[in-house]
Amino acid sequence: MLILLIFITLLLSWMIKKYVFKFNHHGHKNNPPSPPKLPVIGNLHQLSALTHRALQTLGAKHGPVMLLHFGSKPVLVIQSADAAAQFLKEHDLVFSDKPHTSSTRRLLYDLKDMIITPYGEYWRKLKSICVLQLLSNKRVQSYKFIREEETALLLEEIKSCCLSETAVDLSQQFDLHSNNVICRASFGRRFGEGENGRRFTMALRELFRLMATMEIGEFVPWLSWISRVNGFYGRVEKVREELDEFLEMVVEEHLSRGLESGDGNKNNENFVDILLKDSSIDRDGIKGILLDMLAGGTDTTSSTLEWAMTELIRNPTFKMKLQAEVREIVQDRQVITDDDLGKMQYLKAVIKETLRLHAPVSLLGRVTREDITVMGYDISANTLVLVNIWAIGRDPASWDQPEMFHPERFLNSSLDFKGVDFKFAPFGHGRRGCPGTTLAIASVELVLANLVHKFEWKLPMGAKCEDLDVLEQPGVSLHRKNALLVVPIHREHNML
Ligand code: HEM
Repeated sequence: MLILLIFITLLLSWMIKKYVFKFNHHGHKNNPPSPPKLPVIGNLHQLSALTHRALQTLGAKHGPVMLLHFGSKPVLVIQSADAAAQFLKEHDLVFSDKPHTSSTRRLLYDLKDMIITPYGEYWRKLKSICVLQLLSNKRVQSYKFIREEETALLLEEIKSCCLSETAVDLSQQFDLHSNNVICRASFGRRFGEGENGRRFTMALRELFRLMATMEIGEFVPWLSWISRVNGFYGRVEKVREELDEFLEMVVEEHLSRGLESGDGNKNNENFVDILLKDSSIDRDGIKGILLDMLAGGTDTTSSTLEWAMTELIRNPTFKMKLQAEVREIVQDRQVITDDDLGKMQYLKAVIKETLRLHAPVSLLGRVTREDITVMGYDISANTLVLVNIWAIGRDPASWDQPEMFHPERFLNSSLDFKGVDFKFAPFGHGRRGCPGTTLAIASVELVLANLVHKFEWKLPMGAKCEDLDVLEQPGVSLHRKNALLVVPIHREHNML
């Protein structure tokens, strides 16, 4: 009898702990504030193509932590540095899975890539290979010559427009440049040229468009027929086949080259060769990682360059300050060295300020791995989490005059790219933070320093600098809506 009584008491206390303490006195879970929602679609009608902006507007009304519903799917939205730190910094492991849809799984080799694969042993393996073999400081340093050669080509291309005083499409040039750097570093050669190159670049663009498209069927399953009828699934299959064909070619090229040389010379090995030697990653895994490097590294880097030049042209005072720094350090030498870049504090401030105002990845997406209570809110396992990096970068609680481009705020500041302080985390944070930061910053610094060292810039048809628009284009990375067209004036030419 006594044993039965003890058993019932223990069972009751377990049930009270599990069910009562988790719920507030109304008998409900303590959810974060939620804007009113509609049946079936939840809060989807309150979003727009520029999701980061729509969420910022909702947050101004309902606070920095909100629970929305995309259809029936709960979505936790975090939009202040303080809240982001309490959720992600304190509980990194719980928030270390990534969201995916049936289409992103199709496109990224069914979770065999690194960007969307769940946190765990397989992800750790991929991350360590990518960091050690491609993205570590040492590796990034070792293919400095690639960045230098590609930057020289970009400068030549721009210079050719100087004599005719025609506008150059910097958006397009930056895309090509970033693509060439990533392809040469990861695959050993360029792939953007000729008819095949054009098809490959178009397929990548389409991949970015598809990955940024919100699929209604993911949130309201009985509406998934829409993606079939409007051709979305068809586009996913088409681009999947095109990219797979391209990646197969890259892999085959490396396999046959390895057989031909047969010399086992480690110095000739590149990233693809190293992946091919690892028996724990299958062919789809290899293609997934290669696609990650393209998807994670090209569009983000070119977007940063595009916005940095946009802001410098719109703000001539800051452009002149940067120009003065670069020209004083480099003088009339043609080549800008790493040593020079190391001394350019204003350049680093300009890049940070660009990434604060125009974080290419505006929303960090995560998924909770288990139930958790943070800031008194009960969050269930498998909740989609969106951290609005873009809105946090413009939050008046963290920044003075947040809408202004003002690089000086980063001079003598301890804020770095590691995302330690969540008020500035353009590369994310923690386990799933960006492994490509060093490569990205090295590429951006070299290009920007050269662009202001060697050229003056004006807008076509006598347009005023301050009139340059800052309209955004929705996508995996946030780009300008309109291409950045500018007329370069070569410095030597200018000085004649
Ligand atoms: C300015 C350029 C770049 C920006 C702003 C950027 C930003 C980001 C952000 C915000 C994330 C998500 C982090 C998170 O969820 O906490 C990420 C992840 C990632 N990035 Fe970057 N990135 C850039 C360049 C690169 C480059 C050059 C590469 C490689 C060539 C790269 C590869 C990746 C990969 C593989 C991931 C997934 C990491 C994982 O899930 O474990 N990124 N990046």
